[in-house]
Amino acid sequence: MRRAYIETYGCQMNVADSALMTHVLEDAGFKVTEDVNEASLILLNTCAIRERAEERVTARLQQLGQLKRIRPDLVLGVTGCMPKHLGKELLDRLPKVDLFIGPDSYRHLPSLVEEAALRPTFSLTLGDEDYSDLDPVSIEGIHAFVPIMRGCDRFCTFCVVPLTRGREKSLPLADVVRQVRGAAEHGVRAVTLLGQTVNSYHHDEDRFRDLLSEVSEVEGILRVRFTSPHPVEFEEDVFALMAERPNLCAHIHLPVQSGSTRILESMKRGHSREEFLALVDRIRTHLPDVGLTTDIIVGYPGETDADFEATLSLVREVQFDSAFMFRYSPRSGTYAYRKLRDEEVPDAVSAERLESLIAEQERISLQRYRRWEGRHVEVLVETVSRRNPLNSVGKSDDGKTVILPGTPEPGTMVSVPIARATSHTLIAEGVQEREAAPDPAPVESIEV
Ligand code: SAH
Ligand code: SF4
Ligand code: F3S
Repeated sequence: MRRAYIETYGCQMNVADSALMTHVLEDAGFKVTEDVNEASLILLNTCAIRERAEERVTARLQQLGQLKRIRPDLVLGVTGCMPKHLGKELLDRLPKVDLFIGPDSYRHLPSLVEEAALRPTFSLTLGDEDYSDLDPVSIEGIHAFVPIMRGCDRFCTFCVVPLTRGREKSLPLADVVRQVRGAAEHGVRAVTLLGQTVNSYHHDEDRFRDLLSEVSEVEGILRVRFTSPHPVEFEEDVFALMAERPNLCAHIHLPVQSGSTRILESMKRGHSREEFLALVDRIRTHLPDVGLTTDIIVGYPGETDADFEATLSLVREVQFDSAFMFRYSPRSGTYAYRKLRDEEVPDAVSAERLESLIAEQERISLQRYRRWEGRHVEVLVETVSRRNPLNSVGKSDDGKTVILPGTPEPGTMVSVPIARATSHTLIAEGVQEREAAPDPAPVESIEV
């Protein structure tokens, strides 16, 4: 039997897409393995969001290309956003790669692999593929990622996603509900609904609120989250529904990108600083204990010290529970790359801004996490801790990682008293000492 190995980079949508590719390959008689050394097909499912993401994959593909010297039959492929972004130019850069597949071609993977054994093969066109019939759900333990829409129509000036993923398309509501039901029958207790602007979901008459409502009624589903919503796409009734239904988690990842209205306008985000703050107020009126997290870019072209100060003051005002923070990375094909090159901020300046933003957010995160010390938290247990098998790891309703003592069955809900907090973790009373080592900062924020 032919063996295939898939390595995944980028966002949760890519995690779901890798699961989809696994199904497609298994249906065609492949066995998907976790051991790269026994595979005759190697696929890297890639991201193009920042330059660093592409550099990592390029280095990895060069390394894997060396394997062909000892295994001439090996087919090496690159899938997802990076081949779509760079197109045929990638073959010049990576002559050992046989297969270049964009996000809308996974259905045809088996025949493309056959062709790639003979000649370099490209399948990069985008269409209206939504894979709804293939149940593109990625299950790990008691949790599943469930794509509900694909693509993006917003064209923020810095962002490559509309170019790599194409136009927005939502899955039929009945298909999503069927997939969630199927996952629940496999023991899934928590789902995260996925989309680039997940709250703009609309299919026929069905809106995001309708979908949330139906998913929350699926038997066995204890927790429902979604990522990432866009600030301008929220309809008010969504928050009321979240407040009403205990299994709709009070956790919203709400990317803000900048605290300066001038920069938000230049980015074409569609809202001002004040409108974002007003949205946060409305959310907290409905959901007082909501966990709010965000994405922020520093060093966007034209960003002055005053603009950056506005971002710092926004994070102080909002008090996000945590944030992914990035240095702006110019992406070919985007508006900012074509039109704003002259206004790019020097690397040293954006590096310094990133550092001070991370330091500020770390202080805020610690305060936000410490609010839970001495209180009880409802935790959905996910797995045994990798660092200490006497402890378990789970999540609070508002999206925080919780370490707790003992090994309750994954998928059960427990109430634990919080003894102490770091800026990334809540630690329950009775947790074994070894677990208490300091947590690393989120990888995403550091490596760019
Ligand atoms: N669809 C999501 C974002 C997907 S990309 C949304 O709109 O909220 C995830 C994050 O990567 C973005 O929120 C943004 O903060 C960051 N990002 C996107 N393009 C970037 C670029 N060119 N440079 C640096 N960060 C970028
Ligand atoms: Fe990119 Fe903006 Fe679309 Fe998010 S909403 S994927 S940042 S273009
Ligand atoms: Fe990256 Fe594509 Fe996701 S660019 S962030 S893998 S949509």
